[in-house]
Amino acid sequence: MGADLDKDGVAKAYARWAPIYDLVFGAVFDRGRKASIAAAERIGGRILEVGVGTGLSLPDYSWSNRLIGVDLSAPMLRKAKDRVAEHQLTNVEGLAVMDAQNLGFQDGVFDVIVAQYVITTVPDAEATLDEFARVTKTGGEIILVNHLGAADGFRAAYESAFAPLARQLGWQVGFRFERLEQWAARHGGVELIERRPMPPLGHFSLIRFGKLGRVTN
Ligand SMILES: C[S@@+](CC[C@H](N)C(=O)[O-])C[C@H]1O[C@@H](n2cnc3c(N)ncnc32)[C@H](O)[C@@H]1O
Repeated sequence: MGADLDKDGVAKAYARWAPIYDLVFGAVFDRGRKASIAAAERIGGRILEVGVGTGLSLPDYSWSNRLIGVDLSAPMLRKAKDRVAEHQLTNVEGLAVMDAQNLGFQDGVFDVIVAQYVITTVPDAEATLDEFARVTKTGGEIILVNHLGAADGFRAAYESAFAPLARQLGWQVGFRFERLEQWAARHGGVELIERRPMPPLGHFSLIRFGKLGRVTN
């Protein structure tokens, strides 16, 4: 399923989205963004936002946290840089073009990894999650908020029909929660802490993984 997306295609898709992204996806995803920030700030410290996009979430973090944002798309990130300057966000230590699957950070350097609406836009979600776990400190958390696919019924059929168009737009549909559970079980160094339904329509979820003291892969 993940092989359906390729990185260059995704980068091109978000270059097209960049000028209108905030208008289309600003308000509709706001509850999920805020909930993931609240979860991240329960831990606080050094926070990495992967797929930070246009930086819509950045002004909502408390000033006491230190933030780094990365994204595959330079046009999206340029918007984030403008936002940081406009709001004088001195808690944002850096923004960089970077692939979520190849993070240029040492092991265990972040207290929290936040990825809002990102895990279904990467070609290999499991390899990306491995990378998130690698850069997270023991005791830290990986916090995702994302659309998750339905197991069956009308929504599953709709998602299947919509899949080719979604790919063109830069994401995949039909990504099931079970994949995240299976990844955590296989990884062995993380535990699932929480899955919480989120709007719109409860088709989205906030998911928290904790980084354990041992890593077996
Ligand atoms: C749906 S947008 C979400 C943006 C932002 N997090 C938000 O809440 O609006 C997905 C973002 O993930 C980025 N992205 C996709 N694949 C990526 C990858 N492999 N590495 C880093 N960022 C990626 C896209 O460029 C885009 O900015």
